[in-house]
Amino acid sequence: MLRKIGLGEPIAELDEQQSPYAPVRWTNEWNNLDGSIERGYGGRSLFFENGRVRDDLSRVTDYGRMLASLGINACAINNVNANPRILAPDFIPQVARIAEAFRPWGVQVVLSVDFGSPKTIGGLDTFDPLDARVAAWWKSKTDELYRVIPDLGGFIMKADSEGRVGPSAYGRTHADAANVVARALKPHGGLIFYRGFVYDHHMDWRNLKNDRARAAYDNFRELDGRFDDNAVIQIKNGPIDFQVREPASPLFGVLEKTNQVIELQITQEYMGQARHLVFLVPMWKETLDFDMHAGHAGTPVKALAAGKTFKRPVGGFVGVSNAGLDENWFGNHMSQANLYGFGRLAWDPNLSAKRIAEEWTRLTFGDDTQVIQAISGMQLGSWRTYENYTGPLGLQTLTDIVGNHYGVAVEASERNGWGQWHRADEHGVGMDRSMATGTGYIGQYRPPVARMFESLETSIETSPDDLLLFFHHVPYTYKLHSGNTVIQFIYDSHYEGAEAVTEYARQWKSLRGHIDDQRYREVLAQLEYQAGQAQVWRDGVANWFLRASGIPDAKGRVGHYPGRVEVESMKLDGYEVKPVVPWEAASGGRAVVCAAARCTASFRYDGAPGWYVMRVRYYDQNNGVSHFRLWIADQLIDQWAASDHVPTRKIDASSSACRTIHGIALRPGDEIRIEGVPDGGEAAALDYIEIVQDGH
Ligand code: GCU
Repeated sequence: MLRKIGLGEPIAELDEQQSPYAPVRWTNEWNNLDGSIERGYGGRSLFFENGRVRDDLSRVTDYGRMLASLGINACAINNVNANPRILAPDFIPQVARIAEAFRPWGVQVVLSVDFGSPKTIGGLDTFDPLDARVAAWWKSKTDELYRVIPDLGGFIMKADSEGRVGPSAYGRTHADAANVVARALKPHGGLIFYRGFVYDHHMDWRNLKNDRARAAYDNFRELDGRFDDNAVIQIKNGPIDFQVREPASPLFGVLEKTNQVIELQITQEYMGQARHLVFLVPMWKETLDFDMHAGHAGTPVKALAAGKTFKRPVGGFVGVSNAGLDENWFGNHMSQANLYGFGRLAWDPNLSAKRIAEEWTRLTFGDDTQVIQAISGMQLGSWRTYENYTGPLGLQTLTDIVGNHYGVAVEASERNGWGQWHRADEHGVGMDRSMATGTGYIGQYRPPVARMFESLETSIETSPDDLLLFFHHVPYTYKLHSGNTVIQFIYDSHYEGAEAVTEYARQWKSLRGHIDDQRYREVLAQLEYQAGQAQVWRDGVANWFLRASGIPDAKGRVGHYPGRVEVESMKLDGYEVKPVVPWEAASGGRAVVCAAARCTASFRYDGAPGWYVMRVRYYDQNNGVSHFRLWIADQLIDQWAASDHVPTRKIDASSSACRTIHGIALRPGDEIRIEGVPDGGEAAALDYIEIVQDGH
């Protein structure tokens, strides 16, 4: 009702009943007991600090209220990479305090538990799920918990994945592992969510038949029907790991006698980490609406996950939220729309993305039509925009997958065991997952879906090229449905994506005075930063593919940057030229680094006189605060500190930052001089200066 009032809908004659689409509408919060949040971008944990539950749980109360307003009914408070201490006797009363804070809002607490707990904190010499002592331990531990938290929702368990222990240690199955815990929970009405995210991260990349995408199906398909009724398989939306675009996990389509839920990621791990605007609802909807052809009538993922298709007792939606103590919960005002959207879809997955974006904008920024149109428009286009400048055509997010998952690093996914390969080389690009010549992954789908993905012509009904390179390896000159070649599309989409972000920033400026100053300023700063980062992505990916393919950009943009002066070509005093790793993270593959107390780089401007915008690209690492000053013809024009907090200590694409200075008058012969003063581990590094006409 409050939403209706907020939206200005009439309530005088209100007579309406709603019931949620599915019983499970949970969030997962990957909070560590030390107060950090794995893949969290909105500050410290709401729940923990220094190995204990916080004394002040007022933000938990607020969060519970917010979750309740969306119909979210449970919250798993700790990291799936669970610290066994969460079940220690002295910790349980602390967890009970969190449950108390949530209880008035109808939000149940759920705990992530480590499968090795019977041994690590239980004092047993085993955690074999078929050992009677282990079963007894889980039972007595669960009873102990329910004595103090009678409404505990249950457990989540990540086992045999990314270094976590699991049933394989004893040659047991995932069903054995889930069931031993399920049986302990059963008398209390609790549920065990067993993660479907199980894969081998030591896979041999030289074997072209190996494929991480196959893992969920290969691990769980055979076990269908062997899980207890209060066990649920929690399946990530796609077969890899929250990439910018993935097909629906084939596992959704084949579990007929096992409960399942879909796991969506609200926190923007591979989606710009709350520094980039990416509204995820359109992406989630594509998966939720995707027909897996698992039965006679339509069997979209949402119906399978909710348990409707095969009449399962439980099912629904889990969102990895990772809200933190920041005032805006996620590190960015616009990212809140993702939690809102998750909650709305979990309640009713048939709502349109447009409706959700408009609702959120209106409830958040008021009912000014210009504001609603501009913000919801940006939100709705933002996923495609991000995909365009990161990894289009099913390439997945071309980021540092073994590092921070943030900046561009095209090759980071290759030649390592993590299995997120795109297999780009000098001949072509894409991972051959076909049944005919590839890994056979496509064969994990039901035949109508498999046929569609197998065919290069129709690899997806609606937009056939969006997942092309996820399923197929093709030459760079392969022609897409649009008639464009793959390589030219890679170039074009990156320019289009970067330009779209510049446009968002421009559009945002038109809202000045229509929204409060604080949010106006904060979102503008975020969008301007994003616009700069999108250019780093654009140049990094485009140059990488230019080098790999040897095929120039038909539009002449890639590798040609009018007005750009590489700092390594300037007169340097104190600065040293260093190669950047990966090379595509710097213009020309190199940067200059200050190894002295103070360094300068200078050059003489030799272009036409006029008014210009100057962009200084520098590196803002997170281990110091360097200072920069810029002079033109001995006049100090600008100075700034590199004090941003981006997730890297390195000089790479993640730390690449841009200072834009408008309204600069230049005459031929003017000396342009920049000074850097390093600090701590940060080297006041510089990449290039770009001088472009104002208005471009
Ligand atoms: C991703 C993420 C990890 C997380 C894992 C999971 O790989 O990077 O931080 O632990 O997913 O979902 O278990």
